[in-house]
Amino acid sequence: MYQDHLASFAVSSHTHAAPPHAIAPLRIGMLGLGTVGAGTYTVLQRNAEVIAARSGRRMELVMVAVRKLARAASIVGSTVALTDDPYAVVNHPDIDVVVEVMGGTTLARELVLRAIANGKHVVTANKALLAVHGSEIFAAAQAQGVVVAYEGAVAVSIPIIKALREGLSANRIAWVAGIINGTTNYILSEMKTKGASFADALADAQAKGYAEADPTFDVEGVDAAHKLTLLAANAFGVPPQFDQVHVEGITQLDAVDIAFAERLGYRVKLLGIAKRHLHGLELRVHPTLVAADHLLADVNGSMNAVMVKSDAAGLTMYYGAGAGSEQTASAVIADLVDLARVMDVAHQHRVPALAFQHSAIAALPVAPIADVETAWYLRLDVARAARTVPQVMAVLADAGVRVRLLEQFDHADDAELNALVLLTDPVQERVLRAAVAQLEALPHVMGFASTLRMERLA
Ligand code: HSE
Repeated sequence: MYQDHLASFAVSSHTHAAPPHAIAPLRIGMLGLGTVGAGTYTVLQRNAEVIAARSGRRMELVMVAVRKLARAASIVGSTVALTDDPYAVVNHPDIDVVVEVMGGTTLARELVLRAIANGKHVVTANKALLAVHGSEIFAAAQAQGVVVAYEGAVAVSIPIIKALREGLSANRIAWVAGIINGTTNYILSEMKTKGASFADALADAQAKGYAEADPTFDVEGVDAAHKLTLLAANAFGVPPQFDQVHVEGITQLDAVDIAFAERLGYRVKLLGIAKRHLHGLELRVHPTLVAADHLLADVNGSMNAVMVKSDAAGLTMYYGAGAGSEQTASAVIADLVDLARVMDVAHQHRVPALAFQHSAIAALPVAPIADVETAWYLRLDVARAARTVPQVMAVLADAGVRVRLLEQFDHADDAELNALVLLTDPVQERVLRAAVAQLEALPHVMGFASTLRMERLA
């Protein structure tokens, strides 16, 4: 039955009428032919008919700029003009839209600004570029009346920018949170399910084309922070405020804590969290304990998921591939289809780049991490023979930290030690840190405490 359905889809997919010849094609210039560029080329070719039937125009790839011409020729053959001069693309008189999939923030910024100055639209999957230089780029695009679209920049295959900009436009949004880096989610999943080492899991993620050119962006949480910056802008009507995001990655995570969290019914995930408060925002990326029965706990491998809490729609959740060649191409081409549909529309009638009208965007203060309130997981390594628990509880009670659960586990590596694991109620970070400093000074507490934030996201 399912097979039949697929077969009939395959037949019908060839029967779409071509768009009327009178409508000019969308003429595309591309910067880069790496993982995302090659995927975009392949999907544009393979799905040309269905894409044209949806957009009302044919997509014509006019020129691609690459660093390695021979490698690029092995991918596109003689179907597309190749150049090693990216300015030939952004200055090309017969190109309507520049697809920037080269990455980086220096040359990419220059080229994107040049394309905009030349009156060209831009589609990019470059989250670093928009998180860091977004205000400048979006202002230039607004002044020129051109589109800068970037669905592929955030949680690649998930249409989360479209959901925020269009689907949820009636709502006041309270928070956006989720797993927005495929590489780190893949690493954490491989470590948990297969006992893989961090290094092996990262190498695997790189081989699969999930990781950034510089994978420290992934594992140190920077890539997730880039994406969170764009999510927050679309959710709250603020400009990209990347420098205000508190960022922690997964490199400092101890496998012991992942295992203890599991035993207490939690999973550790790298989350990006943006919350709106009365007077400002919280913007943070860090490893986080979520309950094992939470929807985010079962998002594994390179998959991503984003939850949005809004006042009218309530809680919504979006799930899909968070990295990958054709998965990102899907979003890049969706932006091209959107553009093909509105190319001839006056700029003020197009969907605004950051969900809010350009004139309505205003920065909000971002709370320092010390002011942020969350529940906590604490691990203290304590001398086995000592009666440390009453002292620990007294310190926490005096500091105003309420303990919800306390467990003692055997220490994995040292028979003389116990691991004292505590879960707290929500408390301001500065209060928790002050209490932890006192705990670390207790006579039978060894080394530093391990601290991880917890979220309910309900
Ligand atoms: N390196 C990114 C990730 C690619 O792993 O999520 C997709 O943005």
